[in-house]
Parts: sequence; C-alpha cells; structure tokens
Amino acid sequence: MTLTPVHFFSHGSTMMLGEESESADYWKACGDAALANNIKGVIMMGAHWDSVGEDNIEVAMNPSPGKSPVAYVHPSKYVDYKLEADLPTGERVVGLLNGAGFKARANPTFEWIHDTYLILIRMFPGKCPPTTIISMNARFDPHLHMRVGSAVRSLREEGYLIIGTGGAVHNLYRNRWGPMLKYRDNFAQETPPEGWALEFRQSVEDCFANNRGPALRRAITRLMKHPQFRDAHATDDHFMAACFVAGVAGGWEDEREESGRLGAETWELTNMCNSQFTIGSWGNGVQIRAIRA
Ligand SMILES: [Fe+2]
Repeated sequence: MTLTPVHFFSHGSTMMLGEESESADYWKACGDAALANNIKGVIMMGAHWDSVGEDNIEVAMNPSPGKSPVAYVHPSKYVDYKLEADLPTGERVVGLLNGAGFKARANPTFEWIHDTYLILIRMFPGKCPPTTIISMNARFDPHLHMRVGSAVRSLREEGYLIIGTGGAVHNLYRNRWGPMLKYRDNFAQETPPEGWALEFRQSVEDCFANNRGPALRRAITRLMKHPQFRDAHATDDHFMAACFVAGVAGGWEDEREESGRLGAETWELTNMCNSQFTIGSWGNGVQIRAIRA
C-alpha cells in the first residue's frame, strides 16, 4: 500500500502569492510531483476558518466558491483562477469525521480564503485539482485537530494529497510591517529575526525531522507548551494545521515512512518564518526539490 506524502506549509503573508520566493518554488515542485503521481484530489486544513462549538467541524461544500480578496497582490494573480470544490469527497470527509465522533457538517456557502487558495495557485497554476477544505474548531485544541487529521488519514491510501496550511512562526503582532507598508517589501530584513522566533522555528524543524508515526503527534501537539510558543503564535490559529498534519502523518504505519524534512523556508517581515515541510515521499526515493523557473 502506497501512502501519499503530507505537507505542512507556512503560507505567510498575502504577498507570498504575488512575490517570488524559494517557498513558492517548492510549492510548485510539490504540485508538479502530485500531478505526476495522478493524485485524486487535495484535502486541506487552513488557518482562517474555524467552526464554533464543541467538536464542531465544517467542510467546504460551496459548489462554486468565491475568493475573499487579498491585500498587496495584483488581482491578475488570483481573480481568474477557478477553484474546484470536490463535493463527493467532501461528503466522504463529513462521514469520516462523524464516524470519528466529531459533529461535522457541510457548509454550502463558504467562500475560500487565501490560506488555501494561495497554496493551490502556487502548486497548481494551470488548473485547480478537486479540493476539499476542512475547517478548524474554534477551541484550538491541538489534540482535537490531530484527531481530525487521523480521521481522514486513510484517504492517503487512495491517492489524495493532504495539506495543512498555517505557519511555523506566525505572530502578526511581532512582525515588522514598515518595509511592506512603505515599500511593498515583505522580504526586508533590516535586522535579524529575534531570538524567540529563531528558537521556536528550530523546535518546529526538530519535531518534524526527528519524529515519525505517533511520536510526531506527541511532538507537534506538545509544541503548544514550548516556552516560546506564545511569542511565536500570538493566536493559535496558524498552528492548528501542524497538529492536523501530525494526525494525518502520524499513524503506526508512518513509522516506516520518511520523516519530515524542510523543503524550503522564507523569512518575511523580519520575524515570520515560513517553513515548508514534507513528510513521507512518493515512494520512488526522489525528494521534491524547489526549482526556480
Ligand atoms: Fe494566514
């Protein structure tokens, strides 16, 4: 049985859609690899959509979803890109989640947000594959989000590509916004990143690189108790996708898979670290590499 790899992507600011970066190259390389391996569809959890109430989870089932607009990106980069909601897979995901004890339901009106469509455009610029988006739960419990990932993990056996899109270090209150606001330069590093950002970024990499299977689930969920967690994440939303990914990629069988590796990394706004991780492989021993077009 072949298991598809799993990605944890840090989408960063909206400008990651319009500006070139190593992360953008890596997203494209991951998309190319997915298409070359004939994925059935994409299943994502982002960082901008949560469902209120204990155990509530929603699944995006709007047949023609619109896009929430993004600042600092020319509309030509995203307005005409057609999003492809995968309604049959959405129904299955609702069933899997309810079978795992969640209160899951379809949301027929949800408009997609840049945390997911920024990644889709970068990975699959030619055409959006059939995609299912799973909401977070607004209580931001790391173990709950890990269990959401565990509930849909079996879809990897069928050729679905599962992605969490959040952030490794993502604290909007501690970013240096000046160069972006004044000069549209989101990559300016007037000073090095601060110590707390470097420290937490290293811990995220260590957890992905040094843990497989259930140990990955423990390591990633435990990061919310890291002394620098609150510095690195003023709010919990951009870390939930990492917990989801740990659930998706943290079964016992995954102990035999390749452990996580950092595929690319892009610092933005001085203190925001956009690390891109892949766990597992396409089974041919070839690691995905970013290639600048
Ligand atoms: Fe975001």
